[in-house]
Amino acid sequence: MLARRLIERKRDGGRIDPGEWRALITAYTAGQLADHQMAALLMAVYLNGLDPEEIAALTSAMLHSGAVFDPTPMLGPRVDKHSTGGVGDKVSLVLAPLVASVGVAVPMISGRGLGHTGGTLDKLEAIPGFRTDLSLAQARHQLEQIGCVMIGQTAEIAPADRRMYALRDATATVESLPLIAASIMSKKLAEGLDGLVLDVKHGSGALISDVARGLELAECMVGLGRAHGMPVVALLTAMDQPLGRACGNALETEEAIHALTGEGPPDLMELTIALGIEMLLLAGVAATPAAARAQLEAALASGAAARKFQEVIDAQGGNPGVVDDPAVLPQAAECELFVAPRSGVVARVEPRPIGRGVTALGGGRATADAAIDPSVGFVIGAKVGDWVDGGEPLATIFARDRAGVNEGRAVLRRAIVVGDDAPPPRPLISHRVTGAGIERYDPAG
Ligand code: URA
Repeated sequence: MLARRLIERKRDGGRIDPGEWRALITAYTAGQLADHQMAALLMAVYLNGLDPEEIAALTSAMLHSGAVFDPTPMLGPRVDKHSTGGVGDKVSLVLAPLVASVGVAVPMISGRGLGHTGGTLDKLEAIPGFRTDLSLAQARHQLEQIGCVMIGQTAEIAPADRRMYALRDATATVESLPLIAASIMSKKLAEGLDGLVLDVKHGSGALISDVARGLELAECMVGLGRAHGMPVVALLTAMDQPLGRACGNALETEEAIHALTGEGPPDLMELTIALGIEMLLLAGVAATPAAARAQLEAALASGAAARKFQEVIDAQGGNPGVVDDPAVLPQAAECELFVAPRSGVVARVEPRPIGRGVTALGGGRATADAAIDPSVGFVIGAKVGDWVDGGEPLATIFARDRAGVNEGRAVLRRAIVVGDDAPPPRPLISHRVTGAGIERYDPAG
């Protein structure tokens, strides 16, 4: 009865007190609040929002729904990054081993695909044998041994987020500022970090479309970090076209492997290095952005970053041979080129239909517990502003069967527009948000 009264209050625009949030999340985690009631509450939050005190209370209740990594001082600094989600965003797969390879511990807790956006766990699980469901003890041991672990929310760590995340995905309640903030920060606060870097995406392919709301979300999460004594730096980044070229789980994992030796597409490398610089500065292992950049570039060039990824894969049951031979990843039965319908300038490569297209091909979930096909998706070489000749290949479609190829072609026909001119380019990284406030991003630091 309590839950019904609180759902009703939120539905009618009222507020829920911290103690009531704690009771709701405790009951939900214990199985005493049904999914349909939580779904109704999530929709009420989606429609009516939460005030700052409610966001803090929800985050804290979700954090305390499970256990936390305790700080292990002998391990040195512990830092992580999280993205609010985009299309083609495989940065975590590159960044976690890269930063760990320069001596910073990275205990990364990620999510699965959400809405039209992909999820790090699904990309990692494209690697044959890779397990993301480690226990807290296993994760802690791996962190101590190799300085990096990449796992999902479990029954022990952030269990409330695990269930709410899946429920949001199935109930169209993903694109909500308070729910995104609480979801991300409850997981990240459970990692016992010395610092957190956030990639807050805005644009047509992000969960938040405009810069102003993106900045609001960034400030909200920086504030939640501050309240728990954890320094947070957020970069505001554009998601108007897919990041890199690959969209789809195994395809993105392969692109991430190339990026680990510095061979990734320019936008993916630029963002990975920018976020890595912030991580090294927060960890205190580099004094300046230039010094941090040099350390990261050296780890890519020497193969140290790729070797660290191999160690992580090996430790988590996957086939480490994938780093030397990405062909061990699941391969799609059918692949076909998609060519430019005319000569001109690439005016749009719309990420949202492409993300939904990956799901339609079988690479994302229509329901919370659906299985996915890791092999399907797109590799899109065309970027906004490129000149293309009619008939020139713009992309490759990877599908399970001919019907999938046809579906993929229909998706790309809608998503990629070749015209007479392109919109002026927006910077990939526009703002930097810290506890000191908002500043325009300066790549030179
Ligand atoms: N990433 C998360 O972990 N949660 C969200 O709600 C969005 C992105």
